[in-house]
Amino acid sequence: SQEELETKVAEAKKRLGSRLFIPGHHYQKDEVIQFADTTGDSLKLAQVSGENTEAEFIVFCGVHFMAETADILTTEKQKVFLPDMRAGCSMADMADIDQTERAWTKLQEIFGDTILPLTYVNSTAAIKSFVGENKGTTVTSSNAETMVKWAFNQKERILFLPDQHLGRNTAYNLGVGLDEMAVWNPITDTLEYDGDYSKVKVILWKGHCSVHENFTVKNIQEVRKSYPDMSIIVHPECRREVVELSDAAGSTNYIINAIEKSEPGSSWAIGTEMNLVKRIIQSHPDKHIISLNPHMCPCLTMNRIDLPHLAWCLDRIEAGEDANIIKVEDNIANNAKLALERMLTFNN
Ligand code: 13P
Ligand code: SF4
Repeated sequence: SQEELETKVAEAKKRLGSRLFIPGHHYQKDEVIQFADTTGDSLKLAQVSGENTEAEFIVFCGVHFMAETADILTTEKQKVFLPDMRAGCSMADMADIDQTERAWTKLQEIFGDTILPLTYVNSTAAIKSFVGENKGTTVTSSNAETMVKWAFNQKERILFLPDQHLGRNTAYNLGVGLDEMAVWNPITDTLEYDGDYSKVKVILWKGHCSVHENFTVKNIQEVRKSYPDMSIIVHPECRREVVELSDAAGSTNYIINAIEKSEPGSSWAIGTEMNLVKRIIQSHPDKHIISLNPHMCPCLTMNRIDLPHLAWCLDRIEAGEDANIIKVEDNIANNAKLALERMLTFNN
């Protein structure tokens, strides 16, 4: 039963003490998040994983790319576990390394040595390694503007992997025109752009988050009609049109803080993952909060981490088994770390 599993996890945590560390992403279920030692957005979880040199076992409650990042940033003797290996990220899967290398060759043919590659942390370690090797950086939704600005001090143009929406929203906020943004299609290996290539400043990888693409202009229009005084806040993985019509956009931490700081009685529609929206609703009974999409959008892969998997993972650790270890090969980890560190030096 749920209660038995909760007791099991609580007791294992007690026995393992500071040998165990459980980071939990904001999109995790309540049944899991109650056992997290730290909760946070992708940036914070990357930072705390890097800072924790003590824990032998890091049980990452989030998705695969986050666990890879934790492995890259922790020491050799620390082990990172993902309670369910199927907890991937469909966006990260939209850029594989072969596609990226093909794109890079073609883009260099077109633009020469004028492009710096950047990748959203929602990408595989192999992509981060490619970016690190080519002098670029990772970004998260909390620091994308800072890092894109940094990139434009290095090179004339950027390639932004793998989320076209975060890339477009960020570049737009920095004054890059939509007509200066091209889209790289990794399925057809072509650059989608009508116009003179010399105008291109940003090349957006044609990837997206299947959760955040579910928030639409129609959702916004409906909220505006039903609740004219409601503020709409969304994650920048939403499409440009949706962000444009919202009142604010930012990372999961940004959304949480904005609502926390708001006046009692204020009203909000939130465009992000369902577990987080539900938790925000529960923790602010004094405010009127709804999901921007009434059909609530879960991240199915985040949801694969559940109490049974967490209990099982801790059980295997205590049995001394190396089940569900996330270990990035050294040759990939070294360059990926360069890309991550370029970002982390800005945010520490
Ligand atoms: P942040 O928590 O960094 O805003 O990221 C959201 C997300 O989609 C993680 O997969
Ligand atoms: Fe990936 Fe989207 Fe899920 Fe985040 S919410 S883990 S970007 S699929």
